[in-house]
Amino acid sequence: MPIRNPVFAPPFNIVRASHVELGVRDLARARAFYVDCLGLLLSDETADALYLRGVEERNHHSLVLRLSRAAEAQALGFKLGSEADLDRAAFWFARANLPTSFPDLPHQGRTLRTADIFGTPLDLCAQMEQSESMLQKYAAHQGARIQRIDHLNCFTPDVQASYDFYSALGFRLTEYTETDGDDAKLWAVWLQRKGNVHDLAFTNGLGPRLHHVGLWTAGVHDIIHICDVMATCGYLANMERGPGRHGISNAFFLYVRDPDGHRVELFTSDYLTVDPDHAPIRWSLTDPRRQTLWGHSAPESWFREGSQFSGVAPREPALAAQPVVAM
Ligand SMILES: [Fe+2]
Repeated sequence: MPIRNPVFAPPFNIVRASHVELGVRDLARARAFYVDCLGLLLSDETADALYLRGVEERNHHSLVLRLSRAAEAQALGFKLGSEADLDRAAFWFARANLPTSFPDLPHQGRTLRTADIFGTPLDLCAQMEQSESMLQKYAAHQGARIQRIDHLNCFTPDVQASYDFYSALGFRLTEYTETDGDDAKLWAVWLQRKGNVHDLAFTNGLGPRLHHVGLWTAGVHDIIHICDVMATCGYLANMERGPGRHGISNAFFLYVRDPDGHRVELFTSDYLTVDPDHAPIRWSLTDPRRQTLWGHSAPESWFREGSQFSGVAPREPALAAQPVVAM
Protein backbone atom coordinates (compact mmCIF):
# COMPACT_ATOMS: atom_id res chain seq x y z
CA MET A 1 0.00 0.00 0.00
CA PRO A 2 2.51 2.67 -0.96
CA ILE A 3 1.54 6.08 0.40
CA ARG A 4 2.99 8.68 -1.94
CA ASN A 5 4.68 11.98 -1.27
CA PRO A 6 2.46 14.94 -2.19
CA VAL A 7 2.94 16.50 -5.64
CA PHE A 8 3.19 20.24 -4.98
CA ALA A 9 3.80 21.21 -8.63
CA PRO A 10 1.21 19.22 -10.60
CA PRO A 11 1.01 19.40 -14.41
CA PHE A 12 -2.02 21.72 -14.15
CA ASN A 13 -3.84 23.39 -11.26
CA ILE A 14 -7.12 21.83 -10.10
CA VAL A 15 -8.69 24.23 -7.60
CA ARG A 16 -11.53 22.09 -6.24
CA ALA A 17 -14.48 19.82 -6.95
CA SER A 18 -17.02 22.28 -8.32
CA HIS A 19 -19.99 20.63 -10.01
CA VAL A 20 -21.67 17.41 -11.05
CA GLU A 21 -24.47 16.45 -13.45
CA LEU A 22 -27.01 13.73 -12.60
CA GLY A 23 -29.64 12.18 -14.83
CA VAL A 24 -33.15 12.22 -13.33
CA ARG A 25 -36.38 10.74 -14.73
CA ASP A 26 -38.83 13.37 -13.47
CA LEU A 27 -37.77 17.01 -13.17
CA ALA A 28 -40.77 18.09 -11.07
CA ARG A 29 -40.10 15.30 -8.61
CA ALA A 30 -36.39 16.21 -8.50
CA ARG A 31 -37.19 19.89 -8.00
CA ALA A 32 -39.50 19.09 -5.08
CA PHE A 33 -36.72 17.13 -3.41
CA TYR A 34 -33.68 19.34 -4.07
CA VAL A 35 -35.23 22.80 -4.03
CA ASP A 36 -38.39 22.62 -1.91
CA CYS A 37 -37.06 20.15 0.67
CA LEU A 38 -33.23 20.38 0.78
CA GLY A 39 -33.20 24.11 -0.01
CA LEU A 40 -30.83 24.38 -2.96
CA LEU A 41 -31.32 27.55 -5.01
CA LEU A 42 -32.64 27.30 -8.57
CA SER A 43 -30.27 29.21 -10.89
CA ASP A 44 -32.05 28.21 -14.07
CA GLU A 45 -34.75 25.85 -15.24
CA THR A 46 -35.25 24.64 -18.80
CA ALA A 47 -37.50 22.01 -20.35
CA ASP A 48 -34.86 19.35 -19.72
CA ALA A 49 -32.65 20.55 -16.86
CA LEU A 50 -32.44 22.20 -13.44
CA TYR A 51 -29.33 24.19 -12.53
CA LEU A 52 -28.83 24.41 -8.76
CA ARG A 53 -26.42 26.07 -6.33
CA GLY A 54 -25.90 26.65 -2.62
CA VAL A 55 -26.45 29.99 -0.94
CA GLU A 56 -22.82 31.14 -0.93
CA GLU A 57 -21.99 29.93 -4.44
CA ARG A 58 -21.28 32.48 -7.15
CA ASN A 59 -20.76 29.84 -9.81
CA HIS A 60 -23.99 29.49 -11.77
CA HIS A 61 -24.40 25.84 -10.73
CA SER A 62 -22.84 23.11 -8.67
CA LEU A 63 -25.52 20.52 -9.39
CA VAL A 64 -27.18 19.95 -12.77
CA LEU A 65 -30.19 17.64 -12.91
CA ARG A 66 -30.91 16.63 -16.49
CA LEU A 67 -34.01 14.80 -17.67
CA SER A 68 -32.88 11.32 -18.64
CA ARG A 69 -34.30 7.85 -19.16
CA ALA A 70 -31.61 6.46 -16.83
CA ALA A 71 -30.67 7.67 -13.35
CA GLU A 72 -26.99 7.91 -14.21
CA ALA A 73 -24.23 10.37 -13.37
CA GLN A 74 -22.75 12.26 -16.31
CA ALA A 75 -19.39 13.63 -15.10
CA LEU A 76 -17.43 14.84 -12.10
CA GLY A 77 -16.75 18.58 -12.43
CA PHE A 78 -13.58 20.37 -11.30
CA LYS A 79 -12.60 24.04 -11.45
CA LEU A 80 -9.13 24.78 -12.78
CA GLY A 81 -6.94 27.75 -11.95
CA SER A 82 -6.89 29.36 -15.40
CA GLU A 83 -7.52 28.87 -19.11
CA ALA A 84 -3.80 28.06 -19.44
CA ASP A 85 -4.28 25.25 -16.92
CA LEU A 86 -7.11 23.97 -19.11
CA ASP A 87 -4.77 23.86 -22.11
CA ARG A 88 -2.15 22.07 -20.03
CA ALA A 89 -4.79 19.58 -18.85
CA ALA A 90 -5.90 18.84 -22.44
CA PHE A 91 -2.28 18.20 -23.41
CA TRP A 92 -1.66 15.99 -20.36
CA PHE A 93 -4.75 13.80 -20.88
CA ALA A 94 -4.12 13.46 -24.63
CA ARG A 95 -0.54 12.40 -23.97
CA ALA A 96 -1.86 9.80 -21.49
CA ASN A 97 -4.06 8.40 -24.30
CA LEU A 98 -7.22 9.41 -22.44
CA PRO A 99 -10.17 10.94 -24.35
CA THR A 100 -10.37 14.71 -24.80
CA SER A 101 -13.16 16.85 -26.23
CA PHE A 102 -14.60 20.31 -25.65
CA PRO A 103 -18.42 20.00 -25.54
CA ASP A 104 -20.44 23.22 -25.46
CA LEU A 105 -22.04 23.24 -21.99
CA PRO A 106 -24.54 25.96 -20.98
CA HIS A 107 -23.37 28.54 -18.41
CA GLN A 108 -19.81 27.15 -18.37
CA GLY A 109 -16.67 28.46 -19.98
CA ARG A 110 -14.56 26.27 -22.20
CA THR A 111 -14.91 22.76 -20.72
CA LEU A 112 -12.60 19.79 -21.24
CA ARG A 113 -14.48 16.47 -21.14
CA THR A 114 -12.03 13.69 -20.37
CA ALA A 115 -11.81 10.56 -18.22
CA ASP A 116 -9.56 8.86 -15.71
CA ILE A 117 -7.93 5.45 -16.14
CA PHE A 118 -11.16 3.61 -15.26
CA GLY A 119 -13.33 5.72 -17.56
CA THR A 120 -14.78 8.02 -14.88
CA PRO A 121 -15.98 11.03 -16.91
CA LEU A 122 -14.39 14.33 -15.84
CA ASP A 123 -15.40 17.90 -16.79
CA LEU A 124 -12.67 20.49 -16.26
CA CYS A 125 -13.31 24.20 -16.67
CA ALA A 126 -11.72 27.41 -15.43
CA GLN A 127 -14.69 29.73 -15.76
CA MET A 128 -18.39 29.58 -15.09
CA GLU A 129 -21.14 32.16 -15.52
CA GLN A 130 -21.41 34.07 -12.23
CA SER A 131 -24.57 34.36 -10.14
CA GLU A 132 -25.47 36.59 -7.22
CA SER A 133 -24.21 35.35 -3.86
CA MET A 134 -27.21 34.77 -1.61
CA LEU A 135 -25.07 34.30 1.50
CA GLN A 136 -26.50 37.33 3.27
CA LYS A 137 -29.99 37.06 1.78
CA TYR A 138 -31.00 35.03 4.80
CA ALA A 139 -34.68 35.04 3.93
CA ALA A 140 -33.83 32.83 0.94
CA HIS A 141 -32.13 30.15 3.06
CA GLN A 142 -34.41 27.13 3.26
CA GLY A 143 -34.27 23.44 4.19
CA ALA A 144 -30.72 22.39 5.14
CA ARG A 145 -29.43 25.87 4.18
CA ILE A 146 -26.85 24.26 1.87
CA GLN A 147 -23.88 26.58 1.43
CA ARG A 148 -21.86 24.93 -1.36
CA ILE A 149 -20.68 21.70 -2.92
CA ASP A 150 -17.87 20.14 -0.91
CA HIS A 151 -16.79 16.83 -2.46
CA LEU A 152 -17.42 13.92 -4.78
CA ASN A 153 -17.11 10.31 -3.60
CA CYS A 154 -16.79 7.33 -5.96
CA PHE A 155 -16.46 3.57 -5.96
CA THR A 156 -13.36 2.33 -7.74
CA PRO A 157 -12.34 -1.23 -8.62
CA ASP A 158 -8.75 -0.42 -7.57
CA VAL A 159 -8.24 2.17 -4.82
CA GLN A 160 -4.45 2.06 -5.11
CA ALA A 161 -4.58 2.75 -8.87
CA SER A 162 -7.07 5.62 -8.46
CA TYR A 163 -4.99 7.08 -5.62
CA ASP A 164 -1.82 6.87 -7.74
CA PHE A 165 -3.56 8.55 -10.71
CA TYR A 166 -5.02 11.50 -8.80
CA SER A 167 -1.91 11.93 -6.61
CA ALA A 168 0.07 12.64 -9.78
CA LEU A 169 -2.45 15.44 -10.51
CA GLY A 170 -1.75 17.09 -7.15
CA PHE A 171 -4.51 15.59 -5.00
CA ARG A 172 -3.17 15.15 -1.47
CA LEU A 173 -4.05 12.29 0.86
CA THR A 174 -5.63 13.36 4.17
CA GLU A 175 -7.06 10.10 5.53
CA TYR A 176 -7.14 6.48 4.39
CA THR A 177 -8.54 3.10 5.36
CA GLU A 178 -6.56 -0.06 4.82
CA THR A 179 -6.68 -3.73 5.67
CA ASP A 180 -4.55 -4.97 8.55
CA GLY A 181 -1.55 -7.29 8.42
CA ASP A 182 1.78 -7.41 6.62
CA ASP A 183 0.25 -7.10 3.15
CA ALA A 184 -2.04 -4.16 3.93
CA LYS A 185 -4.17 -2.89 1.03
CA LEU A 186 -5.89 0.47 0.59
CA TRP A 187 -9.68 0.22 1.03
CA ALA A 188 -10.52 3.93 0.74
CA VAL A 189 -8.75 7.28 0.30
CA TRP A 190 -9.72 10.92 0.93
CA LEU A 191 -7.96 13.38 -1.37
CA GLN A 192 -7.98 17.15 -1.26
CA ARG A 193 -7.09 20.16 -3.41
CA LYS A 194 -8.92 23.01 -1.65
CA GLY A 195 -7.55 22.59 1.88
CA ASN A 196 -10.16 20.66 3.83
CA VAL A 197 -10.41 16.86 4.15
CA HIS A 198 -11.44 16.12 0.58
CA ASP A 199 -12.56 17.12 -2.85
CA LEU A 200 -12.54 13.55 -4.08
CA ALA A 201 -12.73 10.21 -2.27
CA PHE A 202 -12.56 6.62 -3.46
CA THR A 203 -13.88 3.47 -1.82
CA ASN A 204 -13.28 -0.11 -2.92
CA GLY A 205 -16.26 -1.52 -4.82
CA LEU A 206 -17.92 -2.18 -8.15
CA GLY A 207 -16.74 0.81 -10.11
CA PRO A 208 -16.33 3.33 -11.39
CA ARG A 209 -19.62 4.55 -9.94
CA LEU A 210 -20.58 7.74 -8.11
CA HIS A 211 -21.15 6.99 -4.44
CA HIS A 212 -22.36 10.43 -3.40
CA VAL A 213 -22.19 14.18 -3.82
CA GLY A 214 -21.20 15.97 -0.58
CA LEU A 215 -22.96 19.29 0.09
CA TRP A 216 -21.76 21.61 2.84
CA THR A 217 -24.12 23.03 5.48
CA ALA A 218 -23.20 25.89 7.78
CA GLY A 219 -23.68 23.90 10.95
CA VAL A 220 -24.74 20.71 12.69
CA HIS A 221 -28.16 22.14 13.48
CA ASP A 222 -28.95 22.51 9.78
CA ILE A 223 -28.53 18.74 9.44
CA ILE A 224 -30.64 18.01 12.53
CA HIS A 225 -33.30 20.36 11.15
CA ILE A 226 -33.44 18.66 7.74
CA CYS A 227 -33.92 15.30 9.52
CA ASP A 228 -37.02 16.75 11.17
CA VAL A 229 -38.20 18.22 7.86
CA MET A 230 -37.67 15.03 5.82
CA ALA A 231 -39.28 12.83 8.46
CA THR A 232 -42.45 14.89 8.38
CA CYS A 233 -42.88 15.84 4.70
CA GLY A 234 -42.83 12.46 2.98
CA TYR A 235 -39.10 11.77 2.71
CA LEU A 236 -38.59 9.47 5.72
CA ALA A 237 -37.57 6.54 3.47
CA ASN A 238 -35.04 8.77 1.66
CA MET A 239 -32.92 9.07 4.82
CA GLU A 240 -30.36 6.28 4.38
CA ARG A 241 -27.77 6.81 7.09
CA GLY A 242 -27.30 9.18 10.02
CA PRO A 243 -27.29 11.75 11.34
CA GLY A 244 -23.94 11.10 12.94
CA ARG A 245 -20.31 12.07 13.14
CA HIS A 246 -17.72 10.37 10.95
CA GLY A 247 -14.48 9.19 12.50
CA ILE A 248 -12.84 9.83 9.15
CA SER A 249 -12.92 13.60 8.49
CA ASN A 250 -14.61 14.31 11.85
CA ALA A 251 -17.53 15.67 9.83
CA PHE A 252 -21.17 15.62 10.92
CA PHE A 253 -23.29 13.95 8.25
CA LEU A 254 -26.62 12.74 6.91
CA TYR A 255 -26.90 10.58 3.78
CA VAL A 256 -30.08 10.87 1.76
CA ARG A 257 -31.22 9.25 -1.49
CA ASP A 258 -32.97 11.41 -4.04
CA PRO A 259 -36.14 10.16 -5.81
CA ASP A 260 -33.95 8.57 -8.53
CA GLY A 261 -31.64 6.86 -6.02
CA HIS A 262 -28.67 9.22 -6.32
CA ARG A 263 -27.00 9.63 -2.93
CA VAL A 264 -26.35 13.06 -1.39
CA GLU A 265 -24.43 13.71 1.81
CA LEU A 266 -25.16 16.76 3.90
CA PHE A 267 -21.80 17.44 5.50
CA THR A 268 -20.21 19.95 7.86
CA SER A 269 -17.51 20.44 10.48
CA ASP A 270 -14.38 18.85 9.05
CA TYR A 271 -10.95 20.52 9.37
CA LEU A 272 -8.09 22.42 7.71
CA THR A 273 -5.42 20.49 5.77
CA VAL A 274 -3.39 23.16 3.93
CA ASP A 275 -0.06 22.71 5.72
CA PRO A 276 2.55 21.18 3.39
CA ASP A 277 3.66 18.76 6.11
CA HIS A 278 0.10 17.71 7.01
CA ALA A 279 0.40 13.93 7.47
CA PRO A 280 -2.46 11.57 6.46
CA ILE A 281 -4.39 9.67 9.13
CA ARG A 282 -4.59 5.87 8.87
CA TRP A 283 -7.71 3.91 9.84
CA SER A 284 -8.06 0.14 10.10
CA LEU A 285 -10.90 -1.36 8.05
CA THR A 286 -12.03 -3.14 11.24
CA ASP A 287 -12.33 0.05 13.35
CA PRO A 288 -16.08 0.88 13.55
CA ARG A 289 -15.31 4.49 14.57
CA ARG A 290 -13.98 5.31 11.08
CA GLN A 291 -17.54 5.08 9.67
CA THR A 292 -19.30 6.67 12.61
CA LEU A 293 -17.30 7.90 15.56
CA TRP A 294 -20.06 6.75 17.90
CA GLY A 295 -19.81 3.16 16.62
CA HIS A 296 -22.91 2.78 14.46
CA SER A 297 -22.32 0.71 11.32
CA ALA A 298 -23.42 1.83 7.88
CA PRO A 299 -26.26 -0.11 6.18
CA GLU A 300 -25.35 -2.59 3.47
CA SER A 301 -26.93 -0.35 0.80
CA TRP A 302 -24.28 2.25 1.59
CA PHE A 303 -21.54 -0.18 0.52
CA ARG A 304 -23.37 -1.74 -2.42
CA GLU A 305 -25.42 0.94 -4.19
CA GLY A 306 -24.23 3.85 -6.32
CA SER A 307 -24.92 5.75 -9.53
CA GLN A 308 -23.40 4.41 -12.73
CA PHE A 309 -21.69 6.84 -15.08
CA SER A 310 -23.42 7.12 -18.44
CA GLY A 311 -21.87 4.73 -20.96
CA VAL A 312 -19.25 3.38 -18.52
CA ALA A 313 -19.47 -0.29 -17.54
CA PRO A 314 -18.31 -0.80 -13.94
CA ARG A 315 -16.02 -3.69 -13.04
CA GLU A 316 -15.68 -5.82 -9.94
CA PRO A 317 -13.04 -4.73 -7.42
CA ALA A 318 -9.83 -6.70 -7.04
CA LEU A 319 -9.94 -6.43 -3.24
CA ALA A 320 -12.45 -8.75 -1.54
CA ALA A 321 -12.16 -7.50 2.07
CA GLN A 322 -15.44 -6.81 3.88
CA PRO A 323 -16.23 -3.74 5.97
CA VAL A 324 -18.37 -3.84 9.11
CA VAL A 325 -22.03 -3.76 7.94
CA ALA A 326 -25.15 -3.08 10.00
CA MET A 327 -27.65 -5.96 10.04
FE1 LIG B 1 -18.78 12.28 1.77
